Order: sequence, then structure tokens, then C-alpha cells
Amino acid sequence: MADVTFTSPKMAKDLTVYATAGDCHTLLSVAKAHKVPIEFECENGECGSCAIQVVAMADTPMAIHLTEKEKTVLRFSGKISKQQIEDAEVRDMPPPWRLACQYIVRDEDILVRL
Ligand code: FES
Repeated sequence: MADVTFTSPKMAKDLTVYATAGDCHTLLSVAKAHKVPIEFECENGECGSCAIQVVAMADTPMAIHLTEKEKTVLRFSGKISKQQIEDAEVRDMPPPWRLACQYIVRDEDILVRL
């Protein structure tokens, strides 16, 4: 089980939900299932509307690596740099932005900023 806490100025208060490890749900599907007011359009990693910030609460984050679509869209929109992509791939440093429709929820507690 993983605690996924959503926070946003659009929400009256933070919302923590429990995601079951191994279900392979995207962060977007978890947010939609709990009526979190997350923006999205394509649901396929192409539009960038679901960009969110994810903070892993553990010392050793698990869901670090970006999909190819995330690299392309987030780089094109200026949300991450080439260096940050390299840091994620080579040094296991979590990137500052992700795409909720591409991010698979792992068995780790995370804070999601919309
Ligand atoms: Fe379009 Fe996620 S909804 S990139």
C-alpha cells in the first residue's frame, strides 16, 4: 500500500488516498478515481496538460525514470532540463515534474502537487 497525497490550491484541503502496489495504475487514474481536480486531455503522454510535481516521501525514491513521452513533452514545455533527465537516468535523482498519465504508482508514499 502506498499513500498518495494530493495538494492543490484548487482543493479545500489535501487528500490522501491509498494505492495498492502492483495494480500498475497511473497517477492520473488514481486522481480521477478519487475526483481530484487534475487537468488532462490526451491521457497518452502527448499534450502535457497533466504535468504535476511529485515528491517521494522515502529516502530512496522508486518511480524515478521518465517515459520517452515524458522526456519529450516536459523538455519541450521547459519544465525539465536535459541535465535533469540525465540526473534521473544516471544518478537516480527524481525529476521535478512528471506527467500524471505516464507515472505508474509504486509501493511508495508520495506527495503530488497539482
Ligand atoms: Fe496529455 Fe497526460 S493527459 S500528457
